[in-house]
Amino acid sequence: MNEVEKQKQYIEKIKKINQNQTLKYHMQTMGCLLNENDSEKLAGMLEEMGYQKIEDPKKADIIVFNTCCVRENAEDKLFGKLGELKRLKQENGVIIAIGGCMMQEKHITNKIKASYPYVDILFGTHTLHKFPENLYKTLEEKKKLEDIIEIEGKIYEGIPIKRDSNIKASVTIMNGCNNFCSYCIVPYVRGRERSRSPKNIIEEVKELASNGYQEITLLGQNVNSYLKVEQEKAIPIEEYEGIHSFATLLKAINKIEGIQRIRFISPHPKDFTDDVIDAIATCQKVCKLIHLPLQSGNTKVLKEMNRKYTKEQYLALVEKMKKKIPNIKLSTDIIVGFPGETKEEFEDTLEVVKKVKFEQVYMFIYSKRVGTPGAKMKNQVPEEEKHKRFDQLKTLVENQIQENNQKYIGTTQKVLVEGESKNNKNLLTGRTDSNKVVIFEGNKKLIGTIQHLKIISEHMWYLKGEM
Ligand code: 5AD
Ligand code: SF4
Repeated sequence: MNEVEKQKQYIEKIKKINQNQTLKYHMQTMGCLLNENDSEKLAGMLEEMGYQKIEDPKKADIIVFNTCCVRENAEDKLFGKLGELKRLKQENGVIIAIGGCMMQEKHITNKIKASYPYVDILFGTHTLHKFPENLYKTLEEKKKLEDIIEIEGKIYEGIPIKRDSNIKASVTIMNGCNNFCSYCIVPYVRGRERSRSPKNIIEEVKELASNGYQEITLLGQNVNSYLKVEQEKAIPIEEYEGIHSFATLLKAINKIEGIQRIRFISPHPKDFTDDVIDAIATCQKVCKLIHLPLQSGNTKVLKEMNRKYTKEQYLALVEKMKKKIPNIKLSTDIIVGFPGETKEEFEDTLEVVKKVKFEQVYMFIYSKRVGTPGAKMKNQVPEEEKHKRFDQLKTLVENQIQENNQKYIGTTQKVLVEGESKNNKNLLTGRTDSNKVVIFEGNKKLIGTIQHLKIISEHMWYLKGEM
């Protein structure tokens, strides 16, 4: 029996224990889409065990936190929340489970065990699929449980999943990272790169298509190196529909009827090979907004970051993409204040931002992560200086976004209608191919369809459209 089958037996056992009760789970997810996708799997397992989702943690029988550790503020957030849960635990004995990336860090689990002893289950990124077994042991044996292992990582297929949306879905295609950028904790908490089999991915996307999903986002910490490690290590891959690389995967998914849009995050510039550029250009369903993390615009800083490209190589890649892919738009991630970054070197980042004119920039202040080479670097940039640079970049980006938004006014955009607007239930919200939010007045029946909308005004973080 495989591991997931074994877990399904635990699901059945818990279902029996929970019979005739209406039990509730409350879940909070931190971090990236990969974590959200993991949470959808946790939700899938919980719902099969008979738990129903609830927004109010006070009314929950089990509270699950799925954590992130990419930046420090996530830690403060988790500890704040855990502090708040103490009273709840004393009042109603709610089961508290914490999982995800942060649990792969020893200093964090030690702190939880010492300062928050009322937490019941700690699980890591490699043991998510064993959640039913861990919960069963907690319920039956009433003991605290820690199930965290440090391994390269495996792929588990067939975990139940409860998706957040019935229009857009994320599909994890590879996991882990072998790049070891010197600021980044991900390779230490998510293990080594490993790809899912082409057949399993295609079957999942086909099933999503048959259930009416319109948009698929392919996920991976280094998504465009899909199947690369397997090829380098000559690990046999069962070929399926001609898929042997990221480019051929895009082409195969592009053919799946029913799917209207394909996105993917996050690629690494060093793996952005010509076949991937050609696939984006020729696959009509692949959105023409490409996320291309820059991190820094200075070659020396990039070298210290272990990014494996120079400023010039990044700019040349952008030029090539702009030439080969008509109407391409780019978004990016930038870290300011990496150790040793001088004011002049930071100017290079500003220069690249000015040149590329990104559609969106996700900006981060460098955050020291225990165990990474960056944390040991002597020449850390003072907090105040980091914030100053951040504000400088933010001003530039916001000006560019506003200017860029003007270009949308008067154009007609294809918008995938996602639902009611959060702030005004009388309006609908959707996204353009370039991932811009568009708010407009329309019938709720349009949710889940693609509409042609005329853009009438811009409001920094969203556009207003009309039918
Ligand atoms: N400090 C600040 N930002 C970071 N990122 C990753 N690690 C750190 C860190 N230590 C950012 C990178 C990455 C994004 C997901 O988070 O820009 O692309
Ligand atoms: Fe972190 Fe770099 Fe891997 Fe991205 S590529 S997950 S930034 S180590």
